[in-house]
Amino acid sequence: MEKMKEEGAGDETHILVFPFPAQGHINPMLQFCKRLASKGLKVTIAMTLFIIKSAHNEVSNNVRVEGISDGFDEGGFKEAESPDAYLERFEVVGSQSLAELIEKQESSGSPFKCLIYDSVIPWALEVAKRFGLVTASFFTQSCANDAIYYNVKKGLLSIPVEGPTVSLPGLPILGIHDLPSFIYNWGSYPTILDSVLNQFKNVEKADCLLLNTFDKLEDEVLKWMSKLYPIKTIGPTVPSIYLDKRIEDDRDYDLSLFESSNETCMDWLNMRQAGSVIYVSFGSVAELGEEQMEELVWGLRSSNHYFLWIVRKSEENKLPKSLVDEDKYSEKGLVVAWCSQLEVLAHKAVGCFMTHCGWNSTIEAVSLGVPMITMPQWTDQTMNAKFLVDVWEVGVRVKLDEKGIVRREEIEKCVKQVMDQGERGEMIKRNAFRWKMLAKEAVDEGGSSDKNIEEFVASLLCA
Ligand code: UDX
Repeated sequence: MEKMKEEGAGDETHILVFPFPAQGHINPMLQFCKRLASKGLKVTIAMTLFIIKSAHNEVSNNVRVEGISDGFDEGGFKEAESPDAYLERFEVVGSQSLAELIEKQESSGSPFKCLIYDSVIPWALEVAKRFGLVTASFFTQSCANDAIYYNVKKGLLSIPVEGPTVSLPGLPILGIHDLPSFIYNWGSYPTILDSVLNQFKNVEKADCLLLNTFDKLEDEVLKWMSKLYPIKTIGPTVPSIYLDKRIEDDRDYDLSLFESSNETCMDWLNMRQAGSVIYVSFGSVAELGEEQMEELVWGLRSSNHYFLWIVRKSEENKLPKSLVDEDKYSEKGLVVAWCSQLEVLAHKAVGCFMTHCGWNSTIEAVSLGVPMITMPQWTDQTMNAKFLVDVWEVGVRVKLDEKGIVRREEIEKCVKQVMDQGERGEMIKRNAFRWKMLAKEAVDEGGSSDKNIEEFVASLLCA
């Protein structure tokens, strides 16, 4: 077992990590903090005051936490009038607050040597440069998605995209609806689109790009991107207990913005047979329509399998009343607002994961070898689904009807393909196991991500 940071050793090499304030961004970057701390660096994570206030648990003491203001200390993102208003103020107030933190640390005798900033906060790089820090841009999505945004930003993929297919270097032939939703649905979320394109606004000034993926998973597109930028794959950033087991007590993401009913889930799963449960979750942001919720309920029920479904509090009012009355905490289906997803995915009772394909969920299920039913909602999820189904072959993808709804019969059909015995299901299970092994290999001693992390740490120690 590697010990967490020894007192004294490497204390002078102090790293500041700055994620975008959202669950899907904090999880991988906080995990990376723990990995760096286990390699002897002193690590501080900067989080907004609102996030610190909202957290339901505490970050492990191997990683220091410092507060930063985004200008919305009381209510965070929801306090802002619009996404534009949030991002504008975040940049103005956040730059100032970040600069103050760096200055404070300089005078404390343990200055930051390097800033690892979330790639969607490009202004953080400019602040760090003013203080002469080493900079690394951390990309929380897949390299395939990053590649699309790069091509759009540089004018190499003209917009709006004309189909029916798109061919780009390093990527498989993509159907229009495999592209990130902001691209095929041009104009749908202009502010977020700007953010993802602006990851490439000034990144050539960064000393390095860190990607939460691993070499074998995205082989071709990574080779292509490594000709453009000094990239390092460092993933999957899944707690060590699930992969290499080299970091003591690293079992959880540590910081949850939602209240979890994990005990209820574990008790319920413990009563089920191996491979008998469908775990259903659409992550921390996506919202489903009422009609879609109803179809899901009936599809899951008629599949005749057990299901554990995460419905966030803000989504609960869309559940059909019949389900709330009968199924909540019932025998066949358990509905809770949040769980420890990793613990659930690692539970032997779980036979498949019906997922929105957020990148964290994707790479977690790949790391734990869980077969998937992909039901992408928006943003990068469509591309992730394409790779899960056609490239890594670890799942199936639901088909939408002309209204964009996944009907109950379709859900039942997909569940059958993955859960019941049959050629496709068996092939998916074999592949899921293979990728699980490859994910472990990447972060284990001498693996591709491990080597990259070692190199990164060594470069900081002698910077
Ligand atoms: C968002 C976007 O939707 C996603 O596409 C993008 O890649 C990152 O930002 P999110 O919707 O939160 O992310 O999905 P995902 O990336 O899968 O992250 C969700 C995280 O919450 C995962 O780490 C998952 O393990 C965790 N989770 C989810 C729980 O711990 N418990 C739950 O009940 C549900």
